[in-house]
Amino acid sequence: MEAPLTLRQSRHLEAAERTADRWWRDAVIYQVYVRSFADGNGDGVGDLLGIRTRLPYLHSLGVDALWITPFYESPMADGGYDVADYRAVDPSFGTLGDIDALVREAHALGLRVIVDIVPNHTSDRHAWFREALAAEPGSAARDRYMFRPGRGTDGELPPNDWESVFGGAAWTRERPDSGEWYLHLFAPEQPDLNWHNAEVRAEFLDILTFWLRLGVDGFRVDVAHGMFKDPALADIGRSGQIALLGSEALPYFDRDEVHEVYREWRALLDSFDGDRIGVAEAWVPSAERLARYLRGDELHQAFNFHYLSADFEAGALREVVDATVAGLAPVDAPATWVLSNHDVTRHVTRYGGGALGLARARAAALLMLALPGSAYIYQGDELGLPEVTDLPDEVLQDPQWERSGHTERGRDGCRVPIPWGGQEPPFGFGAPGSSDTWLPMPASWRDLTVEAQAGDPDSTLSLYRRALRLRRELAALGDRTTLRWLDAPEGCLVFARGTGFVCAVNTSDAAVRLPAYGDVLLASGPVDVEDGALVLAAATAVWCSVPHP
Ligand code: GLC
Repeated sequence: MEAPLTLRQSRHLEAAERTADRWWRDAVIYQVYVRSFADGNGDGVGDLLGIRTRLPYLHSLGVDALWITPFYESPMADGGYDVADYRAVDPSFGTLGDIDALVREAHALGLRVIVDIVPNHTSDRHAWFREALAAEPGSAARDRYMFRPGRGTDGELPPNDWESVFGGAAWTRERPDSGEWYLHLFAPEQPDLNWHNAEVRAEFLDILTFWLRLGVDGFRVDVAHGMFKDPALADIGRSGQIALLGSEALPYFDRDEVHEVYREWRALLDSFDGDRIGVAEAWVPSAERLARYLRGDELHQAFNFHYLSADFEAGALREVVDATVAGLAPVDAPATWVLSNHDVTRHVTRYGGGALGLARARAAALLMLALPGSAYIYQGDELGLPEVTDLPDEVLQDPQWERSGHTERGRDGCRVPIPWGGQEPPFGFGAPGSSDTWLPMPASWRDLTVEAQAGDPDSTLSLYRRALRLRRELAALGDRTTLRWLDAPEGCLVFARGTGFVCAVNTSDAAVRLPAYGDVLLASGPVDVEDGALVLAAATAVWCSVPHP
């Protein structure tokens, strides 16, 4: 018989269990953009087998979880965010057996797995949409989507003036000159679902159940602010609507009805063992609106796009950190910090590119990983990859390029495959001699491969590895303590976590002298300790351990 636990032991156990249960509150989550991470079958496109072979890399990097972008059956009109079958794996990415093995192998390494769910729209090849097109106006099959008669004498004008996020009208007529129009807030190949329809709601609960049973640890909810539209479908009365996204109310985004759905989803997540989570991709006008997605009975996390959009400048960063923490406090949700993803220009380039952009990106990594809450790393951030800005026109695949009449180059420049090793493309992305990669890789990336950086203690990869290891070891980091700002000169941010840790960031373009807070644990660039002062180079961050008084 086992001896009963002492009170101290049981308290200790309780604390450990609590932390394990709430893993997501300070998890570092690595975003895998499937097409571009690793190619297991040599066809030039990343796949599930490729991810499986690279799980040990993610484990040794020190992240807690991976979020995998859609790998479901799809005609790829929007890189997989146009799903034709939510319960099937696209053959170009592998099989259900591969995702099942991936989840089990990741779990064996202590890595959790989050998958993407795309509820706002399906692919136009989804069985439901084909059924809808074959059915009569007013039929049950059409009611799952947003079909409406056109305006004008012969219905030749769209039902209203709403615009697609990818450019052009948000409506397409089912046949070029006849029939009803259907709504697509993204590409015409992505018809919007009607979330007022009970069958749609039931179907998604069933899809989530399918993946939860397979063992996934949660869902990143694509366009979580979408789904419900103002039933009046009234005109907005102005063009350039997408520029308002995230700053002003729009009749097709961030509607209150969406929260009923998240309550249902949360109840489902909670009915499974372990701590399964929902993460909102929600572009909403304010921190208060975002917090609504994170009430105790809704989703767990939301991407912090206001942080992502901030310039690398002390004042702007401090403002967004404060607004984030204050906005989330009423709902007791953890903050998330994110610098890049598959939809935005990589931050090395946003921060100015070249050596300066890289220095700022390295400093930004230490800042992000020292803030309270959870953090997201987009594949290649840890290598300091810049945006590829000179992709030839003929290789561009983002629907934004065509939809904008070739005025917006789109998001392909942040989706170029990851360089793993070797001296020339495809840099170990696929097997040697495998096909050309789906987007070409710059020859200059030979110095940025995982192989080239792994053995170099000054590389960006080594910086991330050390930071992630320290983040686990230091009791003050993660979600365990609040942040306290310390006095800092113009252009600098300095804050303490707990009693033993200080992070200082110099966002200015000149070196600064700061008090020596304690031992330097890690620095993103040159630092010196001189006459009791810490001299921090331009665009540099440092972590210090502060001796106990
Ligand atoms: C999300 C995805 C983006 C996609 C869009 C439509 O914003 O991150 O890649 O194009 O939704 O599904």
